[in-house]
Amino acid sequence: MPATAQRPSRGDVLELTIDSLAHGGNGVARLEGYVVFVAGGLPGDRVRAVVGKSKKAYAEARAIEIVQPAPDRVPPFADHPGAPWQELPYERQLAVKAEQVEDALRRIGKLDGFELEPIVPAVEQWRYRNKLEYSFGTGPDGELVCGFHAPGRWDEILPMDDCLLASERSNEVRGQVLEWARQQGLSAWDRREQIGLLRNLVIREGRRTGELQVRLVTSLGSIDVDSLADAVKCDGLFWTRQDQLGETALGGETTLISGAPQLREQLGGLEFLISPEAFFQTNTEMAEQLYALAAEFAQLRGHERVFDLYCGIGTIGLSLAARAREVVGVEIVEPAVADAIENARVNDILNARFYAGDIRLAMRELVEQAGRPDVVVVDPPRAGLSQKVVRRIVEAQPSRIVYVSCNPTTLAPNAAQMVEAGYRLVRVRPVDMFPQTPHIESVALLERG
Ligand SMILES: C[S@@+](CC[C@H](N)C(=O)[O-])C[C@H]1O[C@@H](n2cnc3c(N)ncnc32)[C@H](O)[C@@H]1O
Repeated sequence: MPATAQRPSRGDVLELTIDSLAHGGNGVARLEGYVVFVAGGLPGDRVRAVVGKSKKAYAEARAIEIVQPAPDRVPPFADHPGAPWQELPYERQLAVKAEQVEDALRRIGKLDGFELEPIVPAVEQWRYRNKLEYSFGTGPDGELVCGFHAPGRWDEILPMDDCLLASERSNEVRGQVLEWARQQGLSAWDRREQIGLLRNLVIREGRRTGELQVRLVTSLGSIDVDSLADAVKCDGLFWTRQDQLGETALGGETTLISGAPQLREQLGGLEFLISPEAFFQTNTEMAEQLYALAAEFAQLRGHERVFDLYCGIGTIGLSLAARAREVVGVEIVEPAVADAIENARVNDILNARFYAGDIRLAMRELVEQAGRPDVVVVDPPRAGLSQKVVRRIVEAQPSRIVYVSCNPTTLAPNAAQMVEAGYRLVRVRPVDMFPQTPHIESVALLERG
């Protein structure tokens, strides 16, 4: 924006041309150099967009009208707020993701000399999610609805008849819960007024076993659990009660209403039990490919001690155990660690141990007790590793670090710090776990010396 021109204000409506996609998925437009990030804009679009935040260096806006669509836009397949890239042809989605991994590593991490391998495309472009978290709300006629937040709106829930990111069976179960709740005359939790009952519905599916785990999240009121158990056809039914401070389906007190306490799933020839509180990769088919890549990058010969950091229910460590001398996993969520220990037992794996702990505090003690690792696998949340955790990992001097990342913009500085400490970034391979969305998974290999 020229020095004399005024920066846009909140509420202004601008007409903009989108020229690229930023990390995180928003369109990027330029007003004489001044950057505007536009939610809902794809490269080549001419849009009218309403300005939200406006800062000295950039503004954020939301497209309210596509004045001239990009020539390669494809018709939308689903009316779904969880599929913001669906009008970008799938091949373009893959290309953008690969470019963003490269951009993050080269520009943010200032790294080079590594091999960026071709992105692994997803097996399924729709109905690939094994877990969906829905919210309850009130429709225009006062009726109870269950669906997703409208983009950028915390107080508006868009009802969903058929969520095309979930399987048909998972959709049926959402319908059963909604019908039960309407029959019971229950209301949605109203965050503004702090009244009402129903907050979220979390449905998880064992894609290989066909099992379904259902968790209803409410405020502190009561429900008729017997009629809910009769109405919902699933393998494990849970009820979580949260006080008014809870903002997501995490937290609160969870009880099992009926069925099994853990969902059963199979991955890479192993059996896994998954508690409702535990993380599990949301795309089962692609998780298998992700773990196969992690195994390839780890290059195990059978004599290695492997640390599986941020191990969840032990999936990566257990899939490596047959090729390693021993596996030691650490995870902060206690029910997930209990699952990991049980998963080792269920699969007759005797050379894997799992501990509950915070990696930010536990690394030194882990090395003292378990011994120096030959290979470290890390799979942290989107925020990546803190500088201190990277220091602790490199001071343990593993020969190889296999970094499974769900965010290239945090992988890049973490990998740069490892390179600074004497490691070499050898190869990186993106994997598309989340078609129709901007989320990017990748696996990176760093070698010492
Ligand atoms: C991206 S998930 C990966 C889990 C597992 N590797 C998998 O593939 O299913 C990240 C995991 O890190 C755990 N976590 C988050 N912060 C942690 C911390 N400070 N210390 C240990 N584990 C943590 C989360 O609970 C979650 O299970």
